[in-house]
Amino acid sequence: MITRIGAIVPAAGRGERLGAGRPKALVEIEGAPILVHTVRAIRSVPEIGRLVILVEPEAVERARQVLAPELRGGPEWQCAGGGADRQESVWRGLQILGGAVDVAVVHDAARPLVSPALIAECARVAAERGAAIAAVPVTDTVKELDAEGCVVQTLDRTRLWCAQTPQAFRFALLQRAHERALREGWRATDDAALVERDGVRVWVVLGERANLKITAPEDLAWAAWWLRSRRDLR
Ligand code: CTP
Ligand code: MG
Repeated sequence: MITRIGAIVPAAGRGERLGAGRPKALVEIEGAPILVHTVRAIRSVPEIGRLVILVEPEAVERARQVLAPELRGGPEWQCAGGGADRQESVWRGLQILGGAVDVAVVHDAARPLVSPALIAECARVAAERGAAIAAVPVTDTVKELDAEGCVVQTLDRTRLWCAQTPQAFRFALLQRAHERALREGWRATDDAALVERDGVRVWVVLGERANLKITAPEDLAWAAWWLRSRRDLR
């Protein structure tokens, strides 16, 4: 059987920490909005047949205009308004995808440097095993602090990994976890946390250090440099 794969791109954040005065997804790096770089990576994965992008409700029209030329001849796509937080934006994406796919890959708009190969690998492992996320080993030593800012303990780094997106799941399994989260009031900053809490094993695929989440202004310069060097290599 052919696995039908869909992608959900939460892009409805306000980008408070970036402080650009407009939605982070529409801030440009190397001549194109962050969201366009992200969508180009997804479009380069031929297995992805459907794509749902969630943006701030007021930015839906603008985003559609920006995305249309990028997605011509590509997957079936929709752009809709996101929710008040990331979890709600993904939930809306799930409802739009409905039962049309077997595997859903969630990838943050704020990670435009992801490689198509990493997206494809997460989807492949999720189709096989149920749930797969990209993550990289922690390189700093991690401390737990008390409320006063004093170290309580040093954690064992060898077992700590930083979760990224892409995060891919069999559709039914992700939908069930989100439904349960709604019922039971769980809040999480990634989808895997909900799926884990629902009792499902989540497999880790080695992520990419370059797959940085654009968060603060200095990340823009780094991302621009990376995109330029990647272009020069081709
Ligand atoms: N996101 C979303 N809907 C929200 C909030 C966040 O779709 N209501 C998305 C963001 O657009 C981003 C991803 O979730 O692609 C990760 O969020 P984050 O990096 O925190 O982005 P922002 O929320 O935009 O940034 P900040 O927290 O600095 O405001
Ligand atoms: Mg945020």
